[in-house]
Amino acid sequence: MKSVLLILFFPFLSLGQLDGGALFNAKCANCHQPHMGGTGPKLFKVRDKWSTGGAEEGSIYNWVNNWQKASKTDPYALQISNSKAVNMSLFPELSKNDIDAIFDWVDEQPEETKSVQIEVPVVFPDYEFNILYRNYQNKVYFGSINGVTDYEVKVEGGTLSKQSDYYILTATDRLLSLVFLDKTSGDTLLVKNYRCKVLPDLQVYLGSATDGEKGDKSARSFSISYPPDVYLKMPDFKVVSWEMEYNGMVIKGTGSELTTEALLKIKEVKSGENVVYIVTFSGPDGVVRKRATNILY
Ligand code: HEC
Repeated sequence: MKSVLLILFFPFLSLGQLDGGALFNAKCANCHQPHMGGTGPKLFKVRDKWSTGGAEEGSIYNWVNNWQKASKTDPYALQISNSKAVNMSLFPELSKNDIDAIFDWVDEQPEETKSVQIEVPVVFPDYEFNILYRNYQNKVYFGSINGVTDYEVKVEGGTLSKQSDYYILTATDRLLSLVFLDKTSGDTLLVKNYRCKVLPDLQVYLGSATDGEKGDKSARSFSISYPPDVYLKMPDFKVVSWEMEYNGMVIKGTGSELTTEALLKIKEVKSGENVVYIVTFSGPDGVVRKRATNILY
């Protein structure tokens, strides 16, 4: 014979205690949240709000039972009833204890931190350091903020223009602020501040040396980069061609590698002498640029 072991768990509530959270989720959560406005206003500490705001004693319970009746007897309730476009449902079945249980539960909910993430925020550049570069076109994506996606973005100190599925953010001042406003409630959801710097010029590296630095005679590859303190995800720059000038003679080549002819010439360079390289490269923006770098040997 098979033996069956049955274990039952009894979730229990102490007698007489109402589950305000369950009531809230069943009846109010469609329109309300403890800490954020949506269809209805946030309900955190709403009893305090009514009592300090001048509502009549007990009027908030009448409101939940039947907001229309409450609005006829209490001017404060009448004022609240005009605050949103949508009307609240009626809950005549809820007792004062039920309603207090809901509000008690709501008031126990921890306030979410204001350091909200912009989800999938920015693909290019990386905003980790809260630095933007002036007059540089930043491709940015905004996700939901605390679950809210229906928000308005205001920018101070720059411009934001909508493209197909992203925005181009351009900083024009020393400081740029992005202010995210809830479209329904008008509440400020998030403020992000950025310091804006002038974008330094691109630099040409030969091996690990750039303009004015001491080079390694065996280094043969050119690369293009912003200076190391620029926190931009490096765009794809392609070296098209180069020219090497040493002692009045010029050697030219294509691609990012020096030719054997150039490397042999570099071997002749004496200590303390320098070689000028003029490098032509193209960027992701399609622009072809030319920069010189002066390497000391
Ligand atoms: C259908 C949406 C809806 C539901 C469901 C709903 N409410 Fe409301 N509630 C509102 C709206 C909208 C307002 C704002 C007043 C107005 O414009 O009528 C409001 C206002 C309130 C206010 C006043 C808020 C303030 O800032 O003064 C309280 C308190 C309140 N609701 C409690 C509740 C409770 C408790 C429940 C659940 C038992 C509930 N509501 C369910 C839509 C709803």
